[in-house]
Amino acid sequence: MPRLDDRLKTVARQIVHQANQRNTHVDIGSDHGHLLKALLAAGRIDYGIAIENKRVPFQNSTKTLRGMKADVRFADGLSGLQVDEADSLSICGMGGESMVKILAFHPDRVPKLVILQPNRRADLVRRWAMQNGYALIDEQIAVGHWRYVILRFEKNDSARDACYESVDFEAALLFGPHLIERWQTEFVVGLQEEYSYLKQLKPIAGNAKKRLDAIERILSSSPAVDLPRQPNRAR
Ligand SMILES: C[S@@+](CC[C@H](N)C(=O)[O-])C[C@H]1O[C@@H](n2cnc3c(N)ncnc32)[C@H](O)[C@@H]1O
Repeated sequence: MPRLDDRLKTVARQIVHQANQRNTHVDIGSDHGHLLKALLAAGRIDYGIAIENKRVPFQNSTKTLRGMKADVRFADGLSGLQVDEADSLSICGMGGESMVKILAFHPDRVPKLVILQPNRRADLVRRWAMQNGYALIDEQIAVGHWRYVILRFEKNDSARDACYESVDFEAALLFGPHLIERWQTEFVVGLQEEYSYLKQLKPIAGNAKKRLDAIERILSSSPAVDLPRQPNRAR
């Protein structure tokens, strides 16, 4: 049995289906296939679909999932899935840009429950959800090689997502409305580390500048924390 690291364990915990409901889960970019194997072994899903667009990861998934209730498909993203074939979907370990590309290419094939673990640009994924009628239900942080964010979305078809109401919208898109609201130690430590890093960039522009400005707004309007000391900055 593959042992999932904390990142994939946190993803797996978000894949929850109601009892007596069909639950076929598709994992796009399955690579080693460990997530689906663990979900099947734990009885968390009835059937798994692994999709890979590279030969070696496809072979690895095939080997891992042999003999299990799973199908491994060699395909580019959602082109390997039929409409209504899966009840939930995960994409883990890619950048937000690639995830949004995959999701936007076949919007009609995206299931109602979506779990995403972007390695970067989580803001693009949150924006995709807002624009496509998916509500952001939960956000978790898993600590491993990096600090990973795991996002759970459910289709709601509403024009608005309540979790962005009464918050600094730009900051919430970048860093997560639920994470800012919960203000857990792991999250605050991550913000402080990024703050220290971004403060040293000279010149700073573009997305890095947007992030730095947003972190300063979040930290200044949240419960007291010790900001890393910056000798040249009036505090
Ligand atoms: C960094 S690995 C992450 C593997 C696994 N999901 C994890 O989080 O441990 C990304 C995987 O996604 C696959 N991938 C990237 N783009 C894809 C696409 N458009 N369709 C299917 N697989 C894709 C890559 O081949 C690679 O195996």
